Amino acid sequence: MAKRKAKKKAIRKHSRKRKERIKPKKVTSAIQKEEVKRELKISAIEEGTVIDHIPTDATFKVVEILDLENQKGIVSIATNLQSKSIGKKGIIKVGGKSLTQDEVNKIAIVAPDATVNIIKNYGVKEKIKVKTPEIIDNVVKCSNPVCITNNEQIATKFYVVKKDPLKIKCHYCERSMGKDDIKII
Ligand code: CTP
Ligand code: ZN
Repeated sequence: MAKRKAKKKAIRKHSRKRKERIKPKKVTSAIQKEEVKRELKISAIEEGTVIDHIPTDATFKVVEILDLENQKGIVSIATNLQSKSIGKKGIIKVGGKSLTQDEVNKIAIVAPDATVNIIKNYGVKEKIKVKTPEIIDNVVKCSNPVCITNNEQIATKFYVVKKDPLKIKCHYCERSMGKDDIKII
């Protein structure tokens, strides 16, 4: 009888030991998974363009400006990432696409501190600081409902009066608009 009890006890002890051995393993693998997740939040690209340092709330405006909805390659978008320089930031990675100077300048309308990185063979081949254009053609809607551009088939045109914070003026109705009034066509 006592022998059986001792045996049971031994089994219990053994299985507890096994559990103890397994448990730390599980914890380690969870941490490892978390690390992998962190790394994979937005992965590196082989060829294409990375638009970095976008103010987080302008990220989807950049998506609109570049018409990325109709892009054929892989597009990765991340917002609310921590940035030392601008608080929260957005990043957009566009596989296989190079931006024209015109497109780079358009980005500056909503993201004046953005950096455009041209990626070739996984390396940063070129780093371009965006530059606010003097004239904005056919990107922004005029906020004046009676402006001719809202009533006839006429492309909008704005003059940049001030770059930071952005202030623009409609060529047709002279309506002044700030960065918060900006709607992308
Ligand atoms: N990047 C990428 N794929 C690559 C290389 C770089 O997606 N093959 C991205 C990086 O994640 C980063 C941006 O491109 O968001 C710029 O890369 P890099 O110049 O290496 O980073 P930083 O030095 O942090 O850039 P910065 O000085 O402009 O902040
Ligand atoms: Zn107007």
